[in-house]
Amino acid sequence: MTEQKLEQLLQDLTLEEKVYQLVQLPGICYQKDAAVTGGLDGSNFTKKDISKAGSALGIWGAENIKRIQKEYMEQQPHHIPLLFMLDVIHGFRTIFPMPLAQGATFDPEMSKACAEVAAKEAAVSGVHVTFAPMSDLVRDARWGRVMESTGEDSFLNSQMTAAMVQGFQGEHVGEYGRVAACVKHFAGYGAPVAGREYNTVELSEHTLREFYLPAYQAGIQAGSELVMTSFNTLNGIPSSGNQWLMRKVLREEMGFKGVLISDWAAIEEMIAHGFCEDGAEATLKAMEAGVDIDMVTSIYANHLEMMVERGQIAETLVDEAVMRILRLKNKLGLFEHPYKDGNEEKETEVILCKEHRELARKAVRESLVLLKNDAVDGNSLLPLNPEQKITWVGPYVETRDMHSSWAITGISQDAITIREAVTERIMEGDIKAKDHFFYSGSRILEDGMLEEFHEAVVTVAKTDLAVVCIGESRLQSGEAASRGELTIPEPQMQLLRAIRKATPHVVTLVFSGRPLDLREVSELSEAVLEVWMPGTEGARGILDVLMGAYNPSGKLPMSFPYCTGQTPIYYNGYATGRPQQGKDDPNRCCSRYLDIPNEPLYPFGYGLSYTEFDISEVQLSRECFRQGSGESIKAFAQVRNTGTVAGTEVLQLYIRDITASVVRPVRELKGFKKVTLNPGETCRIEFEITEDMLCFYTNRGTFEAEKGEFILWIGNSSLTENQTKFTLI
Ligand code: GLC
Repeated sequence: MTEQKLEQLLQDLTLEEKVYQLVQLPGICYQKDAAVTGGLDGSNFTKKDISKAGSALGIWGAENIKRIQKEYMEQQPHHIPLLFMLDVIHGFRTIFPMPLAQGATFDPEMSKACAEVAAKEAAVSGVHVTFAPMSDLVRDARWGRVMESTGEDSFLNSQMTAAMVQGFQGEHVGEYGRVAACVKHFAGYGAPVAGREYNTVELSEHTLREFYLPAYQAGIQAGSELVMTSFNTLNGIPSSGNQWLMRKVLREEMGFKGVLISDWAAIEEMIAHGFCEDGAEATLKAMEAGVDIDMVTSIYANHLEMMVERGQIAETLVDEAVMRILRLKNKLGLFEHPYKDGNEEKETEVILCKEHRELARKAVRESLVLLKNDAVDGNSLLPLNPEQKITWVGPYVETRDMHSSWAITGISQDAITIREAVTERIMEGDIKAKDHFFYSGSRILEDGMLEEFHEAVVTVAKTDLAVVCIGESRLQSGEAASRGELTIPEPQMQLLRAIRKATPHVVTLVFSGRPLDLREVSELSEAVLEVWMPGTEGARGILDVLMGAYNPSGKLPMSFPYCTGQTPIYYNGYATGRPQQGKDDPNRCCSRYLDIPNEPLYPFGYGLSYTEFDISEVQLSRECFRQGSGESIKAFAQVRNTGTVAGTEVLQLYIRDITASVVRPVRELKGFKKVTLNPGETCRIEFEITEDMLCFYTNRGTFEAEKGEFILWIGNSSLTENQTKFTLI
C-alpha cells in the first residue's frame, strides 16, 4: 500500500478504531494455551477489545495464527490485519546459545546467522515481530537478565545488536522468512540498583550516553523497526512516561522513526511507581512520551478515546502513533498478505531442520569458554583422551533442559543429553573406551547428597577422571531471577567436593545463565568449562569441545567476579585518584578492599585454548596524527600458533585516553578480530585507529576526541599488557 493510501486509511478510521491500533492483547485472549510472559493481574479484556485491538503477543503456529487473523479481519471495520509479536530471543524452535553465550563467541556474523534462522522458523509459524535483541549493557551478575544481554562492553554489544537486527530483518522485513526486530529495553534496564529485578536505575547522563546508549543506537542504525520501553525509572522517571528519553533522545537524537512499544504493562505500572495518579494520567504521560503501543493492559483502551474527545490529548498524537503502526504492517506486507509467511508445509520443512541444528551446534562450540585447563605431569585433562575411563556425574548429565528461561517456544525433548552425546561418540568410534559411567542423581538422601552420587564417588576412584556437570537451573536466571549469592546450589557443591576427594582429576562443566563465583569450583577442578545455557544442540557442541573436535575459542563477555561482594564489576572502570598499584600494593590508602582482591576471578575477554598463541609487540604506522585531518594510524601485531593443534584466537584492541576533560576508562575495547591458525602458522593482525574511535562525551557536553596521549593494547584478554602509545595532536 502506498503512503498516500495509508494516509487515506488513517482519515477513514474512527477515533475508536485508531485507539485500538495502539492496544496489544495477550495471546490468551485469542486462544487458551498462549504464552504468558508477565503478570496479568487486573487486566480484564472485553469482547470489543479482542475484536478491535491492533496487535497480539504470545501466539505462534501457522494454522493457529491464520485462523485468528481470518476471523479478526472479517470483523475489523477496515480489515486492518493484526500484528503478531513474540519473544524469539535466541531461537524459535531450534534454540541457540543464550545471548550472553553468543557474546562469548565475539562473532557477530554467527549471531546474525542464528537470528536469521530464528526469524525464518518464527515467520513460517506466523510471527511478524520478535521482541529482540535485548541491548541492555550489564555489569551486575546478580541481575537475572544478564543472560539475555551480550555483556558488559558497549562496543561488543553494539556489534552483536546490529548483527542480530540484520539477521532478523534482512534487507527488508517484508522479505520471506524475516521478522521485525525490537531493540529493548530502552533505557538502562540493565543497571538496577543492587542487581534487583525491576529496581530503580540511577545513571548520570554521562554514564548513560557513554556506556548504555551505544548498543541501542547500533540497533536503530541497523534499522530495527521497533523499540521497547523499560520497566525501570531512569533518575526518577519511568521510561514509559519519560519525554526527554523518548522524544528528545530516542526520536530526535537517535533518529528512531519506528514503533515504540511499552514493556509488559509498563504504562499501567507508572501508577505503582507513583508517577501517575491513575489510568488517565498514565495515558497522558505515555502518549506525551510517544509510546505507540500499550502492551497487555487496558489503559489506552479505557482512557484514550475519551481524553481526546475532551481535548486532554491532541488527536495528532494518536494519529502519529497509528501511522507508525500502519507503516509497520505495510512494510511487513500484511495488507496484501495478512498471513505473511505463515505456512504449515513450510513449518514442517524448515523448523529444526538439519542445517539449523548444525548451525546451533557450531554456535555452541564457539560460545564455550575454557576457564581452566591445568597441566598435571605435563598433561591437561582437556581435550579428553578417547581411551580414558570416565565417570560423568551431576544433574546436567541426563537433563534435556539446556535452554534458557527465555526459550519459550523451545522444546527440551529436541535436545539430547550429555549421556546420549557420549554414547553417540562411543557408537561413532570417537570414544574408544567403553568404561563410561553416568550418575545424574535420583533422590536426595538425608545428608543432602543424592543416592546415586554415593555410588558415583565409589565408581570414580576406578576411572581415570570425572566430568562433573553442575550449575544453575534454567529458571535461576532470566527475568525475575535476581540472586543475592552468585553460587552453584550447595548440594551440587557437596557432590563436587565428594568427587574431588575420590579423584584429583576433575573436569567441571558449569551450566549457568550468568557469571558465578567459581573460586571453589576452580580449586577443586583441574579443568573448568563455562557452557552457559547452550540450547538444543548443547550436548553435542559440548562433546565437540571436550573431545577436541573443536578447540575452544570463547572469551568472556562479562567479568566473573571473585565473589558476589565485588558486583557490579567490569573491566572498563576509572582509575580513581588512588589506583591500587598491583595486588601487593602496600599502600593502605588506595582504592581496594580489606578482604578481597580488586580483580575478578576471570576477566572480560578471557578464555583459554588447547593451543598457545604468541602475540608480538604492537607496532604503529606512525606515532601521532592530527585532529580533524582525517588521518589514521595502523596498529598491528604478528600472531603465531606456537602449540600443537589448530586453534582460534580473538585478538582484542583496547585504547586508553590518558588525560581528558572527563576521566576516561582505564581501557576500552575498540576492536576485535578472530583468527584461526594451524600449528606454527603466523598471521598479521591490523587495526585502523581513527579519530572517531577516540570520541567521548566531554565536559562540554560535546561528543568529540581531545588531543593528547593514548595507550593502545593488542592482546587476547582485557588483562593484556602488550601495549604502545600514540598521540592525537
Ligand atoms: C517481559 C519482558 C520483555 C518481553 C515482554 C513480552 O516482561 O520484560 O523483555 O519482551 O515482557 O513478553
